[in-house]
Amino acid sequence: MAQEIRTVMVVGAGQMGSGIAQVAAQTGLRVLLHDVKLALAERGRGVIEKNLRRQVEKGRLSDGDVAEILGRITLTDKLTAAAEADLVIEAATENLEIKLDIFRTLDEAAPAHAILASNTSSLPITELAAATRRPAQVIGMHFFNPVPVMKLVEIIRGLATAQEVYETVRALAERMGKTPVEVQDFPGFVSNRVLMPMINEAIYCVYEGVATPEAVDQVMKLGMNHPMGPLELADFIGLDTCLAIMEVLYEGFGDPKYRPCPLLRKYVKAGWLGRKTGRGFYTYA
Ligand code: CAA
Repeated sequence: MAQEIRTVMVVGAGQMGSGIAQVAAQTGLRVLLHDVKLALAERGRGVIEKNLRRQVEKGRLSDGDVAEILGRITLTDKLTAAAEADLVIEAATENLEIKLDIFRTLDEAAPAHAILASNTSSLPITELAAATRRPAQVIGMHFFNPVPVMKLVEIIRGLATAQEVYETVRALAERMGKTPVEVQDFPGFVSNRVLMPMINEAIYCVYEGVATPEAVDQVMKLGMNHPMGPLELADFIGLDTCLAIMEVLYEGFGDPKYRPCPLLRKYVKAGWLGRKTGRGFYTYA
């Protein structure tokens, strides 16, 4: 039986966290939006407000709706705010040590009934669960960027995830207007096990001089009807995130077919992380 979720805490107010917080608040849930500094949480709320104002310009929301939605969001820089949450969705940086630390702290702070979910794009849910005293209440809830637009939520069952927890999270994803798809906990789940090797191969095409980034992207857009070419998409996701996911696949399966392209490593070392730093395979104003 699904549990009732009224208050959701989102840990991390970046690209993904702010998107998740926006959709949750639009669903009528009370949202606690966390980041390590209040200024970062405020920036996240700024992005949400900008998105909602665009909806007003399109005549889909009124000014009153925007005020109501924003009024459901409380900002915090304390993980102990989890004491008020029925569900926590962690959307911090893709680093296992950082996430393990967050899960340990959330486990201390959250009420006994609360579910701890991670929006990780590839890290093991079972390992995050094992860092807590409530492994049955830990699950993967993987959203896609831009969260307000993309329909999918990949729901990842850890080894110990309880059926009731799975059903609660599935029902919530549907309430949020998303389509949940169930997958088991293996490196990269399904989404990134398929997507990232394609992106990595596109980077190899550039690295080996097969074609320019523009040409690679044109091939995939015009020939395969992808809305964005793989290199444009890599810049959109963040090249550091792409590399982190390739490393998880490479280490997790121990198979050389997942080795990250040296050009991807080089760009990340240079700080060319894509859109967010103004430069990746393309440059951005
Ligand atoms: N936030 C909110 N809404 C946004 C948005 C954003 N950042 N960007 C675009 N939108 C909305 C627009 O407002 C517009 O809405 P309406 O149709 O309701 O008016 C709609 O999206 C379409 O936008 P545009 O017309 O400006 O642009 P577009 O048609 O080129 O679409 C896109 C933009 C939706 C991003 C499209 O290019 C696309 O689908 N790209 C692929 C995205 C993708 O593959 N995402 C998954 C990445 S992988 C991931 O996230 C997970 C991981 O683990 C790495």
